[in-house]
Amino acid sequence: MGVAWKARFEVDAAKCIRCGRCEKVCAGMVLHPGPDGVPRMDDFERFGWRGCWGCEHCLAVCPAGAISILGKRPEDSLAPAPPEAGEYLERVIANRRSCRRYRNENVDPALIGSMMRAMQCAPAGGNAQNTEFTVVDDKDRVRQIRDVAYAKMEEAAARGAYTSSFNSFYYGKMKQSEASVRKGDLLFCGAPHLFVAHVKAAGKWADDYAVNCNLATAYFELLANAHGLGTVIMSYSADVLRELAPEARAMLGIPEDHYMKLIVGFGYPEIPYARGVQKGQIKIRRWTEQSNGQMTLL
Ligand SMILES: Cc1cc2nc3c(=O)[nH]c(=O)nc-3n(C[C@H](O)[C@H](O)[C@H](O)COP(=O)(O)O)c2cc1C
Ligand code: SF4
Ligand code: SF4
Repeated sequence: MGVAWKARFEVDAAKCIRCGRCEKVCAGMVLHPGPDGVPRMDDFERFGWRGCWGCEHCLAVCPAGAISILGKRPEDSLAPAPPEAGEYLERVIANRRSCRRYRNENVDPALIGSMMRAMQCAPAGGNAQNTEFTVVDDKDRVRQIRDVAYAKMEEAAARGAYTSSFNSFYYGKMKQSEASVRKGDLLFCGAPHLFVAHVKAAGKWADDYAVNCNLATAYFELLANAHGLGTVIMSYSADVLRELAPEARAMLGIPEDHYMKLIVGFGYPEIPYARGVQKGQIKIRRWTEQSNGQMTLL
């Protein structure tokens, strides 16, 4: 006896047009047409590679909105992005800047909640879905964590000890930046909120789980910027919390055995930027077909 019943796969036969799309996209290969042409789910041993992935492709692909799975109903899904979303996303990418000065103001909690709902759909290898997101909703809590971490960082610097990523030169530059770019707070740049993607990364898939965290970080950054928020990815602060201030890490509630490489500060930006940047240094290698039919690497 398998566990397919746990997937709660349901098809409204009256709506199903027997198009077979759900069967074609099923990552777990557990959907097959029944005698009436309506898809049925095979019984399976366990979720993941031995059965249903829980990916919800079936629910998402069905043009008739006939499929429910894992208690999710098609009418509760967000609609597809409109065609102009691509151009908007290009603008978001070009206009996203590391924001290091923020208004001393909490972001609307409803907006944070709606972003977190979307973030549930960030990609994860094999649909592992084991990344955890820690968000600090309140600026005063961020300040408390910052004060503990900051004191530990200063204490270490007084002994000539720094994170593995820094030395006295970089630390000195960070201190200098508190007069302007990171006003008064080299650690979290005065961001009123923090977002951290972390995971218990152990065993064979540890590297992949870490990659999932970093991907989630990038998704969050773009999403927040698309909503007009400022963000800054901070590896230095994560290093401080990991290496110098475990007390501050504990205040965030991030377990010691979790991978945590990047912290994102976010909030309403103090200073708006007027246009995107025009970077062009990244080498892009494109195999392109020439007029003689030869493929050439440009
Ligand atoms: C992996 C990673 C780690 C970063 N760590 C920090 C950091 O600790 N502190 C900081 O102020 N900026 C940090 N940044 C931001 C970069 O410095 C920034 O992306 C770069 O200066 C280019 O500026 P832009 O993001 O505004 O385009 C980090 C960015 C990345 C991708
Ligand atoms: S959730 Fe994914 S793996 Fe499971 S039945 Fe639907 S498409 Fe197949
Ligand atoms: S995708 Fe929807 S309409 Fe098409 S076969 Fe599957 S259940 Fe039926």
